Amino acid sequence: MISVSNLSKSIIDGAQTKSVLEDVSFVVEQGQSLSITGESGAGKSTLLHLIAALDKPDDGIISVNGLQLDKTLSDKQADSYRKTLLGMVFQQFNLIDCLSVWDNISFTARINGVYDQDYIQHLLEQLDITRHQAKLPVELSGGEQQRVSVARALAHRPKILLADEPTGNLDDKNSELVSELLFSLCASTSTSFIIVTHSQEIARKANKHLHLSNGKLHAID
Ligand SMILES: Nc1ncnc2c1ncn2[C@@H]1O[C@H](COP(=O)(O)OP(=O)(O)OP(=O)(O)O)[C@@H](O)[C@H]1O
Ligand SMILES: [Mg+2]
Repeated sequence: MISVSNLSKSIIDGAQTKSVLEDVSFVVEQGQSLSITGESGAGKSTLLHLIAALDKPDDGIISVNGLQLDKTLSDKQADSYRKTLLGMVFQQFNLIDCLSVWDNISFTARINGVYDQDYIQHLLEQLDITRHQAKLPVELSGGEQQRVSVARALAHRPKILLADEPTGNLDDKNSELVSELLFSLCASTSTSFIIVTHSQEIARKANKHLHLSNGKLHAID
């Protein structure tokens, strides 16, 4: 379960401090999904980075499966949280340039000791990237790299999945493929899932849909 209470975050923009998130609260129960929409610059990636413990909130409490992501969380604990519990699809993919597609995808699973070759093969097939497994990321199109980053986020079977516009570089067919895989896999494995998307169609697939504007979250029916 992901619980966010009264979360606030400001950024330093030149000489000014700008509030990005103000008093943001929500809960995503285990196995449930939440979609977040909002215009460019609204703070969606900032919010996901806070839940991924890649950044610290100014105020408020984030709790993920009982672990409090606050100032008392050590770097080691944050590292272990990201490695074991969390899967993340980054907006900019963040693939490792010098590793093959297969090694990028299996990296976290290997260091956790949960490497499952058959499962990774299955993910590659589902995402239609099997033929690219021996290539380097630089040899792939943006959409292919995006699907590799989706497979990488899933390969170690995380219980919390954060996806930042995971279909942003994909055509309609692949958007459908990726979103269906993410929603169905999270539901069947009881994974809590937050997806940031510009697509209303994808946002509607989630159990709950929130819209971020002016630093605040608004419920969408
Ligand atoms: N490293 C940074 N330094 C300074 N300002 C930043 C930094 N990262 C983000 N910002 C600012 O914080 C605000 C929120 O950015 P964020 O990336 O969270 O938006 P977003 O909703 O994800 O937008 P997009 O839909 O374009 O990805 C923006 O005004 C942005 O300019
Ligand atoms: Mg963003």
